[in-house]
Amino acid sequence: MAILKVARLGHPVLREKCRDLTPEEIVSEPVRQLVADMRATMSEYAGVGLAAPQVHEPVRLALVEFEEGDDRYRVDADQALLVLFNARVDVLDAEPAGFWEGCLSVPGLRGFVERPSKIRVEYLDENAEPCELLAEGFLSTVCQHELDHLDGVLYVDKIADPERFAFVEEYERFHQPAPDDA
Ligand code: NI
Repeated sequence: MAILKVARLGHPVLREKCRDLTPEEIVSEPVRQLVADMRATMSEYAGVGLAAPQVHEPVRLALVEFEEGDDRYRVDADQALLVLFNARVDVLDAEPAGFWEGCLSVPGLRGFVERPSKIRVEYLDENAEPCELLAEGFLSTVCQHELDHLDGVLYVDKIADPERFAFVEEYERFHQPAPDDA
């Protein structure tokens, strides 16, 4: 496994419209290696998701994985590794849910973005088998954030209120909500 270089905001690969992979490509050794390297890269940089164009591969592949208690995003649930090929999103509930998002391609910053609260994702898994995922809450936001990357869209494009865009330090100092009293 290798830790891959992550493209940063301004690199044209982040604005490309990515292409689907064929079932033959999905099960091929180079793509299996890419998935393993992307997972290692996501882990190295403590991301909760990573899309292929972020590692300079303009194909429709994204990974999502996070653990409860993640100290960057205060996640309240576990999500085992999802490997999403050629994913398509249907909105099931357009009621917006807002989260402070970050991105490995926009390091050191956080921005508040609202997205549909409940979605269905249709995709091919690592064996090129069709799968369906229902996502709400944080998982819905992470999936939409990652799949936006495949269309050249970054979360910074979707920040409605410029006052809710901040460096991590200032986010923690002025914007982070107090932990819930359980
Ligand atoms: Ni991102």
